[in-house]
Amino acid sequence: MRLVRVDDLVSGARVARDVWTGSATALPLLRAGATLTPAYIRGLRRAGIGAVYIEDELGEGIEPVEVIAEETRRRAARAVERLVSVAALDRAGSQEVPLGDIHEAVDVIVDEILAVPEAVLALADLTTADGYTVQHSIDVAVLGLLIARVFLEEVAPGGAARLDRRQDRDRGRWLRRVGLGLMLHDVGKALLPRSLLMKPEALTDKEWTLVRRHPLLGAEILERSGVGPLALTAVRWHHERLDGSGYPDGLDAESLPLLPRIAAVADVFDAMTSARPYRPAAPSWVATEEITGAAGRLFDAQVVAAFRRVVAPYPVGTLVRLSDGSRGLVAALPPGRPDRPVVRLVPERGRPSREISLLDRDDLTVVPLCEVGGVGGHLLEPLPPGAEPGMAASPGGPAAGRSPDAASPPAMAGEALSGHVGGEVGRLRPVS
Ligand SMILES: [Fe+2]
Repeated sequence: MRLVRVDDLVSGARVARDVWTGSATALPLLRAGATLTPAYIRGLRRAGIGAVYIEDELGEGIEPVEVIAEETRRRAARAVERLVSVAALDRAGSQEVPLGDIHEAVDVIVDEILAVPEAVLALADLTTADGYTVQHSIDVAVLGLLIARVFLEEVAPGGAARLDRRQDRDRGRWLRRVGLGLMLHDVGKALLPRSLLMKPEALTDKEWTLVRRHPLLGAEILERSGVGPLALTAVRWHHERLDGSGYPDGLDAESLPLLPRIAAVADVFDAMTSARPYRPAAPSWVATEEITGAAGRLFDAQVVAAFRRVVAPYPVGTLVRLSDGSRGLVAALPPGRPDRPVVRLVPERGRPSREISLLDRDDLTVVPLCEVGGVGGHLLEPLPPGAEPGMAASPGGPAAGRSPDAASPPAMAGEALSGHVGGEVGRLRPVS
């Protein structure tokens, strides 16, 4: 299958996977196997869906793998939705919230992550802006857990002591507490008006001040509800930055614990790659580059190193261009090196397609196509034999160029990073 931007979809294509809104209770917008019509495509665009998996001859047999099972994701979504609705009823923030379902959901996610040692986050975020709050909680938990595991096992063995002074050596128990904090990091938003979180225009100073209270609000609810101190660090400090420019406490590299450093990277990556009411989703490669560029300044360099080992800049099924001008679909990701994918090349006319592993080809790099899930079908047409690489220019731009679309995400990302916004509304505004 292939991942295609909604703007590039054509009638007659068959949907390869169910298209969800992100809500645990809503039905899919489209089912796998549906044939696209102009009305369906308009509906997807209206719903704010960024990209869709379609069945595709070149992509035959290419199957993106979720880190967690779909049923696990839906179970977690139900738990988060219930928790958020209970917390939202208590605007005074004086009650406890029930955490049993969340604990169970986190346990299952941790078990599934531990069962796949080489798990890589290789899926594009395809849900709607409306389903963001719930899916963001789950995505940050999954990504943060992947980072935490790699951090401990490969990047900084022995680093557990930084996370937990009691030095709990039971990795499963430790990850469950980490996962709980990550899953609940934004629960304070439940106490904010929904109209504020979904506001497409710039926030006023007063609104922005209110939004910036959500880490404290969340930490207060959860402390009252019996959540332990380790998990609370993710909730209270996921918007802190190493240079001291974050909020709510302005912690710096000396004082910021490790778990919120992990939460910050996971939060910003997921926020940037998700569609919001005020801007479209940025491609994974854009978010990866922006976060990498801020390593050591805003984000912990070792955490970013772990992040780069578990996140694919180009998700499986994405159309990419290589530095020699050839094009193809990302077919697979080598463990630990998701930045060097296996690429199934678009065949020349009359020849079979073939796959190359970029791990074996130091001479080749992936050249960004600047779009979420690939580009128009015309780029998939076979190259005539002997055609000069790089000449098949597209609206997405040839190798060296960037489309107007592409100019936005990096600028937007810069705002997200320097504005300490992450999964936040507020300064993360569209540039247009
Ligand atoms: Fe937040």
